[in-house]
Amino acid sequence: MKKIIVTGGAGFIGSHIVDRLIIEGYEVAVLDNISSGNRLNINDKAKLYEIDLYNGDIGSAIQDFQPNLVFHLAAQSSVSVSELNPSEDASNNILGSLNLYKACKNTSVEKIILSSTGGAIYGNQDEFPCSENSSLNPISPYGVSKLTTEKYLEVFAGLYGYQYTILRYGNVYGPRQNPSGEAGVISIFAGLLLKGDSVKIFGDGSQLRDYIYISDVVDANLLAMNAPNKSIYNISSNKATSVIEIFTLIKSLTKSTNNPVFMPRRKSDVDKIVLNNAKALKELKWIPKVSLEDGIASTVDYLNEN
Ligand SMILES: NC(=O)c1ccc[n+]([C@@H]2O[C@H](COP(=O)([O-])OP(=O)(O)OC[C@H]3O[C@@H](n4cnc5c(N)ncnc54)[C@H](O)[C@@H]3O)[C@@H](O)[C@H]2O)c1
Repeated sequence: MKKIIVTGGAGFIGSHIVDRLIIEGYEVAVLDNISSGNRLNINDKAKLYEIDLYNGDIGSAIQDFQPNLVFHLAAQSSVSVSELNPSEDASNNILGSLNLYKACKNTSVEKIILSSTGGAIYGNQDEFPCSENSSLNPISPYGVSKLTTEKYLEVFAGLYGYQYTILRYGNVYGPRQNPSGEAGVISIFAGLLLKGDSVKIFGDGSQLRDYIYISDVVDANLLAMNAPNKSIYNISSNKATSVIEIFTLIKSLTKSTNNPVFMPRRKSDVDKIVLNNAKALKELKWIPKVSLEDGIASTVDYLNEN
């Protein structure tokens, strides 16, 4: 596994994976259309294929670079965009992924590692924390598109003979997450409070989420390179934290005096989601190392400096 393509390598999670792979001595290419990503995130030592997965020529990039492995992260990852424009979400996530999987047929690609989501595809559950075998009940178009992306990977890997591993993340946070987006509550709250602006909380803030720091997610991706074929892992902290607890921690770190503005709850927000990470701990020997307090402090420092 020497040559690796990272789709979405200009984005938040993908760019951190690229950086780590380069430190580990791999030859890396980024395949990204720079829609939600940022050119400044792309490591100088990585080759860039600026291609759209939905309507670009992925096959030429694969033939040119000859990767052994693909980390697939490129996606439209906003729940609200998926509600406003489900066709755009489906084109990017479902058809874009399908094009990638087809382009890997009969090539050098031996394995695809897919970044998927826990919260959005498990949906509202009766079981906490939910395991990889819990029922899949997406309640947003984004959840449906990410789940479909998993299912197509299972089918195409079977048809075309490459291996796969799927990682279902909790709420990933850390440096480079877009503070003006809508997906990363920690960066959004920290960004607004540092500017002296007020924060909107949808609902009463009691919603529970499972937050996991970016470097722990990168560790899991590297370990997944040697994971068994057809494996699925939750990558999470296994701990529930409320939105109000997150707000209180960030308020204190940013020394803000602003109180949150409470807004009506959004229909596609699940009440509570916690992911059981026991399988990744046991089989991947993955150990999440960064506490929520330390991770949030690093994120606030990064936003302060940038
Ligand atoms: N951030 C999280 O908390 C989280 C949680 C669960 C799963 N995920 C998954 O992890 C992956 C990365 O998320 P992120 O937070 O880094 O998002 P991001 O928006 O920062 O990165 C996505 C990258 O994909 C690129 N991209 C989007 N559509 C594309 C297309 N059609 N063709 C080529 N490139 C395209 C964007 O330009 C961007 O660089 C996504 O697949 C997302 O579903 C993220």
